[in-house]
Amino acid sequence: MNFITQFQKSNEYRKVIHDLIPGGAHTYSKGDDQFPEQAPAAILRGKGAYVWDLDENKYLDCSMGLTSVSLGHAYEPVNEAVRRALEDGVNFQRPSVLERQTAEAFLSLTPGHDMIKFAKNGSTVTTAAVKLARAKTNRKLVAFPGDHPFYSYDDWFIGKTACNRGVPEEFSDLSLTFKSTDLETLKELFVKYPNQISCVISEPEKSNIHAPTYLKEIQEICAKNGALFIVDEMITGFKTDFPGSIKKYGVVPDMATWGKGIANGFSFCALTGKKEVMELGGIRKKGDEKVFLISSTHGGETISLAAAIATIHEFKTKNVLQHNHQIGNYFSEAAKALIQKNGLADYVQFVPSEWFPMFIFKNKENTVCPGMRTLALQEMIKRGVLFQGVFVPCFSHEKAEADSFMEALGGTLEVYQKALEGGYQKFLVGDVAKPVFRKIL
Ligand SMILES: Cc1ncc(COP(=O)(O)O)c(C=O)c1O
Repeated sequence: MNFITQFQKSNEYRKVIHDLIPGGAHTYSKGDDQFPEQAPAAILRGKGAYVWDLDENKYLDCSMGLTSVSLGHAYEPVNEAVRRALEDGVNFQRPSVLERQTAEAFLSLTPGHDMIKFAKNGSTVTTAAVKLARAKTNRKLVAFPGDHPFYSYDDWFIGKTACNRGVPEEFSDLSLTFKSTDLETLKELFVKYPNQISCVISEPEKSNIHAPTYLKEIQEICAKNGALFIVDEMITGFKTDFPGSIKKYGVVPDMATWGKGIANGFSFCALTGKKEVMELGGIRKKGDEKVFLISSTHGGETISLAAAIATIHEFKTKNVLQHNHQIGNYFSEAAKALIQKNGLADYVQFVPSEWFPMFIFKNKENTVCPGMRTLALQEMIKRGVLFQGVFVPCFSHEKAEADSFMEALGGTLEVYQKALEGGYQKFLVGDVAKPVFRKIL
């Protein structure tokens, strides 16, 4: 195997980018501090399951645009639809006719949800859902699991994380957190703040840590207490099921939020919901007080709508979900066996999944270890796999890709074994990758 060792152009890029863009990227999750030093700084292009960096190093992609690319990079049927939309112009004085087509196509997937609003970012739609819930219930508080990583960069969420600088307490005090693994803690919030909680927002599932009854239980708690229930399908949408976990578990929340994966990486996100809530953002009910729901110049930009329609078409006509789950299961079996064969099951904890197989890296003392994790990333990258701890199967991943991942993982585990004995510091070049949500830089 030829190791990737040439990062000259990446290193030049890294030197200048932080003078131009705070954080060096447009999501902190893509930042330099999330990767080992020996990693690509920026991507030139992608095709299918592969990407090429500034130095023309080729990598197998595992997280596919933070899980947004569900079909593959530069996937031709979506690109073709986008090209057609491009030729007709992208933004007009009145809505494009694609708005109706996209609304009908998406809502045909979400039984129980009657209306939809589009946006360019996930944070916009989760924040809009919270606003609608507050308007509908006339209550101020919002509750979400404190152990889930991310719902929005807006104040109602970020104010509750370690990165709360710039958010007045008056805002963050309106947000409450509970433990997703113990719904008694949610019930306690309703006891402590009677008739004050407008909504509960939660992701529907996370790497098998929730019981299959998780959604139904929250729905019951919300209904009993007059709060709305919002399911955030940003990561699960088009991955756990089609359209997502609400279908898998047979739950109809008041609202759901969608983003990654629903337009193959194009900037299309959506808020769907029941008519009685969504209509609050409408303009038909003369005499009612207006709710200023999502309103943005680029919300209906045509190329992303065309990408969404084409992505839905591919999922509907090509058994995409079934393919992705087959690859996820094949991958999970192979990874489990390989870790076992290397005698590392105690140190490289693998969470099998058909849609989100995940690795947790531990040290000799059996505790989760960012240094060992960064070393694993470094060794995978060296072997041509752009890896951050998960493998999210997409339509362009085949068994061959899972096999080449395993080849890289085999070599990585040999180094891992040595580092368990000798310490990761001996093998890691540069700093340990850091958590996104940290108080101090
Ligand atoms: C569960 C969840 N909700 C919301 C968001 C916000 O989406 P965006 O980055 O598009 O604003 C994310 C992004 O990572 C997410 O994972």
